[in-house]
Amino acid sequence: MTTALVTGASSGIGAVYADRLAARGHDLVLVARATDKLRELASRLQSRHSVSAEVITADLTDPAQLAKVEDRIRKGSAIDLLVNNAGANVAGTFATVDAAELDWLVRLNVIAPTLLAHAAVRGMAARGEGAIVNVGSVVGFAPEHFSGIYGATKSYVLTFSHALMAEFGPKGIYVQAVLPAATRTEIWARSGRNVDEIPGVMEVDDLVDAALVGFDRREPVTIPALPEAAQWEAFEAARHAMLPGFANAKPAARYAA
Ligand SMILES: NC(=O)c1ccc[n+]([C@@H]2O[C@H](COP(=O)([O-])OP(=O)(O)OC[C@H]3O[C@@H](n4cnc5c(N)ncnc54)[C@H](OP(=O)(O)O)[C@@H]3O)[C@@H](O)[C@H]2O)c1
Repeated sequence: MTTALVTGASSGIGAVYADRLAARGHDLVLVARATDKLRELASRLQSRHSVSAEVITADLTDPAQLAKVEDRIRKGSAIDLLVNNAGANVAGTFATVDAAELDWLVRLNVIAPTLLAHAAVRGMAARGEGAIVNVGSVVGFAPEHFSGIYGATKSYVLTFSHALMAEFGPKGIYVQAVLPAATRTEIWARSGRNVDEIPGVMEVDDLVDAALVGFDRREPVTIPALPEAAQWEAFEAARHAMLPGFANAKPAARYAA
């Protein structure tokens, strides 16, 4: 038996992850703000799958509450799988949102997964095994289509995942970036959008089941909605092809004054 900690487990993608991981026999630590929903989910999964399910109420944008979850990861029983799923968007454009909302979004989508992964990796590396799933978004590739900083926060999740994979893959830790496209969850209504106006929305069960196929295959990056894996592979190949070109002491010829 292993233990999985899922953030944002009270609804949407996180709640389905909790369900699927319990069905696979993982004990759970469920994190979000909505205690009632977490307790209801925990008791349902405990009785249905005979696993244990601990609930931690935490607003991950609050440093003290985030620290409580970091402490649980560092000092409690071992966390073998961290699912960094909690996330949100805010309504409005970059110009219209308050600075406080931008700060909130960066805390939730960037700082929280970073510090939770930081809390997890040392123990995982010492044990020589463990897994971290970071839920990003295809919007990280299409920031032009979403105003504000949501796409940028999700680009961070992918870039951060690449860095974790490079550093901790050799130490036995598997890191997966899951990049959903539009998926039917509460995130749309919460950020002032009507999901029924969005084309090509995936059902959340399908999204998580596909992400877990990618997990079982140990894919570094899983994009459930993308039909042609070759497109992602070409994108990655182009990125890697550029890298040797960065080792130049002089600017490229096209920038000659
Ligand atoms: N649905 C999509 O179309 C889509 C597409 C691409 C990526 N994603 C990503 O998928 C992840 C899950 O989102 P979802 O679609 O499942 O949305 P959701 O149904 O709104 O779920 C978001 C989860 O995050 C939790 N959360 C929100 N604010 C929090 C806070 N301050 N502290 C702690 N937990 C907080 C929520 O719980 P509480 O409210 O109880 O705290 C909830 O459990 C997010 O990272 C999102 O960016 C979603």
